[in-house]
Amino acid sequence: MDTTSARPSSLPRFPRNFLWGVSTSAQQIEGAVGEGGRGRSAWDVFAGEGGRIKDGSDPGVAVDHYHRYREDVGLLRELGVGAYRFSVAWPRVVPDGSGAVNAAGLDFYDRLVDALLAAGVEPLPTLFHWDTPQALEEHGGWLRRETAEHFAAYADAVAARLGDRVRRWITLNEPAELTLLGYGIGQHAPGRQLVFDALPAAHHQLLGHGLAVQALRARGAESIGIANSHGPTWRASDEEADAAAADLYDLLLNRLFAEPLLLGRYPDEGLAAMLPGPVAEDLKVISQPLDWYGINYYQPTVVGAPEPGGSGGPTDFGGVRIPSELPFAPREIEGYPRTDFGWPVVPEALTELLLTFRERYGASLPPVMITENGCAYNGLDDHERIAFLDGHLRALHEAMAAGVDVRGYFVWSLMDNFEWAEGYARRFGLVHIDYATLARTPKASFRWLRDALRDQARG
Ligand code: FCB
Repeated sequence: MDTTSARPSSLPRFPRNFLWGVSTSAQQIEGAVGEGGRGRSAWDVFAGEGGRIKDGSDPGVAVDHYHRYREDVGLLRELGVGAYRFSVAWPRVVPDGSGAVNAAGLDFYDRLVDALLAAGVEPLPTLFHWDTPQALEEHGGWLRRETAEHFAAYADAVAARLGDRVRRWITLNEPAELTLLGYGIGQHAPGRQLVFDALPAAHHQLLGHGLAVQALRARGAESIGIANSHGPTWRASDEEADAAAADLYDLLLNRLFAEPLLLGRYPDEGLAAMLPGPVAEDLKVISQPLDWYGINYYQPTVVGAPEPGGSGGPTDFGGVRIPSELPFAPREIEGYPRTDFGWPVVPEALTELLLTFRERYGASLPPVMITENGCAYNGLDDHERIAFLDGHLRALHEAMAAGVDVRGYFVWSLMDNFEWAEGYARRFGLVHIDYATLARTPKASFRWLRDALRDQARG
């Protein structure tokens, strides 16, 4: 492996016990979808429908982490991270989503956890990162309350096997994106276009989180968090219609998922009344104290009212079809560099987001971890990714200096992978994957982060 430094790091100093890590998810890296007794996931089926994934690919092999996990753990050791955030595939552990547990599925995570611990890397599993078992999806998936209960039973099975070695857990990844993209507009699996009728999927995921927290605690879990996606919403203008549209977007993307967890209530009574109940009882389960709160941050969004006199048909925004019946419209953000995905690079919005959270939730906000942050760029000499990470770490440090209690930071992602509806074209990795050979090659950003972490460790 190349030992030359990409560039000396001059990052500000983070606290000694700050947790540095990288993130991945099962559906995006494991492959081996038909092996070891794994059941089908909603994403396996969605990708197989044709026309759903931009490059026509599927996650069947992905980066073959299932067979190459030892090599990947070696990369983590070389990188020098303190923790590795991965996800456990529900359909690998409970192939039908409910009922029989597949011991061979648990064996895989057992081996992975042991390999991580032997490498001195803390395993930080996420129990659900969008790979709903297809058997449950066929009955409505997260639109149904039973799915939350099945999720808790699955969480119990995983904790029973790994709980002797795993200290920290994450229940869900980004329930907001699954609700909006999966059930609301159909860009992601399961491809439903229910618009506001997707809201029960939000409530049931939050309930599933709460029930899983109970199951994990009963198994002695020391530390539990969630990974929610958040970003500042900027108003397109001060006009009343734009302000109202932006506030609604902020409510749906940020407050709808933070407030039940942190404050034990939904941010709007009219909205709570649209949810399947018993909502007040469920909120008690949902709002059990968390040890920390995970935030996935990528970008801010500028939002305004739908353009009057528009065509009335759906609009295309960053490749996502936005249905015309939504009462808000995202607008392009001008004046910032963009990643290969077209996402604006706005590190200062991370500082703003964290300050907003502290202001909104005060003492109800537990310590924060940034559970995902990263960017899509092609190429091995990925100096743009270095600049992105450098800028976001400085922005994070600024929020910490202003008093926000942040305990960790995880880069998305360790390696290039299956980027959902985009397929393999968007490369978020610190490690490059050659999809013809599945060879792993560390990029310049990998060496930069490795050196930065060594530097931080020197104190
Ligand atoms: C997040 C997802 C993650 C990855 C990044 C780019 O929304 O949690 O799986 O796709 O975006």
